Amino acid sequence: MPRVVVVGSLNIDSVVEVERHPQPGETLMGGDLATFFGGKGANQAMAAAAAGADVLFVGRVGDDASGRQYVERLAARGIDTSAIAITPGVSTGHAMIALAADGENTIIVSPGANARLTFADLEPLDDLTPEDVLLAPLESDLGVIAEAARRASARGARVIVNLAPFSALPEDVLALADPVVVNEHEAELLVTSGLRATSLLVTLGSDGSRWGDIEVPADSVGTVVDTTGAGDCYCGTLAAALAAGQDEPSAMALASEAAARAVEWLGAQP
Ligand code: RIB
Repeated sequence: MPRVVVVGSLNIDSVVEVERHPQPGETLMGGDLATFFGGKGANQAMAAAAAGADVLFVGRVGDDASGRQYVERLAARGIDTSAIAITPGVSTGHAMIALAADGENTIIVSPGANARLTFADLEPLDDLTPEDVLLAPLESDLGVIAEAARRASARGARVIVNLAPFSALPEDVLALADPVVVNEHEAELLVTSGLRATSLLVTLGSDGSRWGDIEVPADSVGTVVDTTGAGDCYCGTLAAALAAGQDEPSAMALASEAAARAVEWLGAQP
């Protein structure tokens, strides 16, 4: 069974619908508060599991009710939660999301327990094999994420780094990832930072995605309800497909299809 190991974040998403996004210094009235399970790591893990992968999650939640509920939720979806640590004295990660009428969002993340991920938490990576895939977005401690990528690569596993939210990872980590996944905004930040990735996959929204010379069109979307988590759905599905031995164009096509469905529901996870 192909295995995807996600080292990443778990957040509770507090979502308020707004007519438009506020300007700096402006107060806007929004709709009712809605709460969802989110976090780039967990969203990607859920997508990989939905795509048929055997998923192990490495991360941290706070010692609170939402953290415990989150672990139960992932386990109920068949995700191995044995490497999720409960962190005393800190909250589970939280994201404040403003969702505008056109489905576009702005997000502020309070990382909470995600920022407490430690090198010791990476012990399960010592069992990785060349058939496994490591998938890592950047909402957790960046030093630990970089170490996870190096350890997984040393074990021969494929490493996929989702450079979201953008941060300048060490160049050796960008060089070993195959691929580094970015959206158009993150791609620009990567160029501005002067860093380069050896293998770069850019998601282009309605224009599809591009990985080196491979271009795959976007799948058609019905009604855009909420774009939150669409990129995560892409990454998780891509990782599952590559772990299952699909070639790059097929994996990208499956990921595009899953991401297109992900914008049709409210919240980051199905
Ligand atoms: O990518 C979407 C995710 O970003 C949300 O679920 C939110 O938690 C933030 O991490």
